Amino acid sequence: MNIDLTYELTILPGRDRAGNPEGFDRIVLRPGDTLSIVGPTGSGKSALINDIEVLAQDDTATGRSILVNGAEPPEEMVRDPAKKPIALITQNTRVIADLTVTRFLALHIRARDTDAEELIAKTIALANEFTGEKVAAGMRMTSLSGGQTRSLLIADAILIGQTPILLLDEIENAGINKERVIACLRDFRKIVIFVTHDPYIALITDRRIVMKNGAVECVLEPQGRESAILSKLSDMDSFLWNIREKIRSGEVIAESTRNPIKKMVIFA
Ligand SMILES: Nc1ncnc2c1ncn2[C@@H]1O[C@H](COP(=O)(O)OP(=O)(O)O)[C@@H](O)[C@H]1O
Ligand SMILES: [Mg+2]
Repeated sequence: MNIDLTYELTILPGRDRAGNPEGFDRIVLRPGDTLSIVGPTGSGKSALINDIEVLAQDDTATGRSILVNGAEPPEEMVRDPAKKPIALITQNTRVIADLTVTRFLALHIRARDTDAEELIAKTIALANEFTGEKVAAGMRMTSLSGGQTRSLLIADAILIGQTPILLLDEIENAGINKERVIACLRDFRKIVIFVTHDPYIALITDRRIVMKNGAVECVLEPQGRESAILSKLSDMDSFLWNIREKIRSGEVIAESTRNPIKKMVIFA
């Protein structure tokens, strides 16, 4: 476990799809940093996140290199998944092993100390802060929904794997309370990168990498200038979340349900 280690990641530029050099010098990521990657489909968002995940050394289609703590990462960190400080969770991430939630988490707890039971309970409780469809200890991993699986894997990466760097590729679609996830990842001082089409996630992250034609087009740092619209988006999101949960539990949505959208100011 990498309990006391802090990591700094540096992305060095590669080439766009036409082979032109990317127009940035370096992008440095430190603990607690949150970034989003935005851009149209096919613009190279997943390729960038994959470069980070494989710790590319000018050996992928993009020609980018990733430094860990300012240097080329040691060979064993690249080869051995257990030594890699990075977790990638995508929309398609599913656990195919036919295990219960408890057994799956227990397998991740390498040092089987007396705390194992408590750590499993804590991880399930954290996952349940992220998802409205509750995860229970005895459920089978293969029966979890996409939202439940992603919630559990994020909680697992935070509490059990203690992974310092999380890459989340378009995880926003349904079943995850984004606000809770982001607040929690910040509290735990993770480096978090979201590939996203979700305006709330794009606006709440400190930096926004805009992709075009396979290359980083620019890195935006709005520094609070978007906070007014962000709080509106947050209201709208929690409104939607509540309605979704009520529908899920079989309620009829009454007229009186507070609607923040009515109070929306349109920002030109
Ligand atoms: N800089 C690049 N050079 C060459 N091919 C690239 C580059 N960036 C992305 N690609 C390729 O283009 C395709 C689309 O990129 P992808 O990252 O999947 O886009 P997105 O995730 O934004 O939809 C992929 O096959 C990817 O490998
Ligand atoms: Mg993609």
